[in-house]
Amino acid sequence: MAPEGHSVDQLLGQARTELSAASSTQELAEVRAGYLGKKGSISQLLRTLGKLDPAERKQRGQAVNDAKQAIEAHFAECRAALEGSARQRALAETQLDVTLPGAAPRRGHLHPLTHVTRDMVSFFTSMGFSVEEGPEVETDWHNFEALNIPAEHPSRDEQDTFYVSGGNLLRTQTSNVQIRAMTGRTPPFRFIAPGRVYRHDLSPKHSPMFHQIEGFLVDDRVTFGDLKGVLFAFAKHLFGEETELRFRANHFPFTEPSAEMDLTWKGEWLEWGGCGMIHPQVLERCGIDPETWRGFAFGMGIDRTALLRYGFPALRLLFEGDVRVLEQI
Ligand code: DAH
Repeated sequence: MAPEGHSVDQLLGQARTELSAASSTQELAEVRAGYLGKKGSISQLLRTLGKLDPAERKQRGQAVNDAKQAIEAHFAECRAALEGSARQRALAETQLDVTLPGAAPRRGHLHPLTHVTRDMVSFFTSMGFSVEEGPEVETDWHNFEALNIPAEHPSRDEQDTFYVSGGNLLRTQTSNVQIRAMTGRTPPFRFIAPGRVYRHDLSPKHSPMFHQIEGFLVDDRVTFGDLKGVLFAFAKHLFGEETELRFRANHFPFTEPSAEMDLTWKGEWLEWGGCGMIHPQVLERCGIDPETWRGFAFGMGIDRTALLRYGFPALRLLFEGDVRVLEQI
């Protein structure tokens, strides 16, 4: 509200100061309205011009109109400045600081069984063994008969078998690969066969699916001493130089003689697997003359080996896929 006597210059100066001080476009518009709006002080001044005499009216009218334009111009400038800095601020907020250190992506890791299997395979391939695979759905012949385990053999009881249609079964042991790999091949040869095996075992500590690794070598002068040498080196490779192995006489239908091996683990003897000299009848069934060739074979659980190596309590935990569990390994 402009008091009557206020000079137009004073009013203009005041308007400029107030416009410059406005900190938002909203505030700016309010300041402008205070001068140029319907009830604004400049508008009121314009309305008083009619009372003046013509000469004064012309002069004063000119001055008020100039002031009005100057205020409009300053308003436009201030608004542009405010809008510019708002844009600047918005830009600054969304700006990417490329010098900030990045967030490292979470890295996965191989399953403990994959680690152990790879380690086992690399140990044997470094000794000239190659890797053979056999089917998991297997014939009775390859899984049992050819390995000297006929239908009524008591050792079938220890390997509760899952049968599938067509008289086939889920292999209970990787020993089936001995038959598959040896049939039709001429020695010398050496193979390992890691893979899944299945037994109808409902114990909560066990799993109906687990993994074994089979190894076998056939040559013209192979002894039980060679077998022991290989297994000693294998155990030390997996569990450390100070690891001891011992062999206990045992029976497996497909080896003669046969032994079970134990290893030392944290001061205890633990059963680790079976082994022996390949039974002459097994060689014969694969078309290999047992008068000329001999072989050794062994087999052990990969999962069990992994549990010992990582100090893990139960086999099933390996297969449940719980990342919180697997990450501890
Ligand atoms: N197949 C046997 C099992 O599942 C383990 C085994 C024992 C494999 C002696 C062999 C061996 O090759 O010679 O219990």
